[in-house]
Amino acid sequence: MANDQEKEAAARASLQFIKDGMVVGLGTGSTAAYFIQLLGEKVKNGLRVRGIPTSVRSRDLALSLGIPLTTLDECQDIAVTVDGADEFDPQLRLIKGGGGALLREKIVASASRQVVIVADPSKRVPVLGKFPLPVEVIGFAQALVAKRIRALGAEVKLRTGADGNPYVTDEQNHILDCHFGQICDADVLARQLSDMPGIVEHGLFIGVASAVLIARGSEVVELRR
Ligand code: A5P
Repeated sequence: MANDQEKEAAARASLQFIKDGMVVGLGTGSTAAYFIQLLGEKVKNGLRVRGIPTSVRSRDLALSLGIPLTTLDECQDIAVTVDGADEFDPQLRLIKGGGGALLREKIVASASRQVVIVADPSKRVPVLGKFPLPVEVIGFAQALVAKRIRALGAEVKLRTGADGNPYVTDEQNHILDCHFGQICDADVLARQLSDMPGIVEHGLFIGVASAVLIARGSEVVELRR
């Protein structure tokens, strides 16, 4: 599929940011998985890096490929993180968390000198919000938080798994998928959500991406803030 080829092309282009000896943040999602696979090939060929995964899924993938891992306990200075996104706008503000890993993704990004986002062209939007904004919430507060987010104008759905039960994140929280339509002021919304008790983290990543690599066919374009 064209989309998969574009994801792989963007992931391949991100390898230029990875140098021997680096600690590398490993994102989550299908595009980040291409990056982890390609990084695994480099490691097999002698590249020395240590990865900090943003999810159990990415950790398992990295381990299966023989990528050495470390943790934030051992290292708080990550040279580069390569991750995907659900949407990005012209200011390279992102919506993330479609894969449920937004909390660890934001923490790892915050400890990274560079955050390189790999994406296919479907993720590029003029205004954020077509993709429902994931909000990670503690179970105890989910109904209260959902009500408060509805009052901000969103349609809110508790994410469920294949078994119909609430989806549980790696940090044992739940996710509210919040359909805002167009988010006219992402900065204000980010602050409102950050101030809401019960919300652990939200999927607006503002001022986080250093670069977005976007593939169209086999050509890759690098966008900078
Ligand atoms: C994971 O929680 C997300 O933030 C992903 O980075 C995002 O959903 C992009 O995933 P894909 O690369 O699979 O589209």
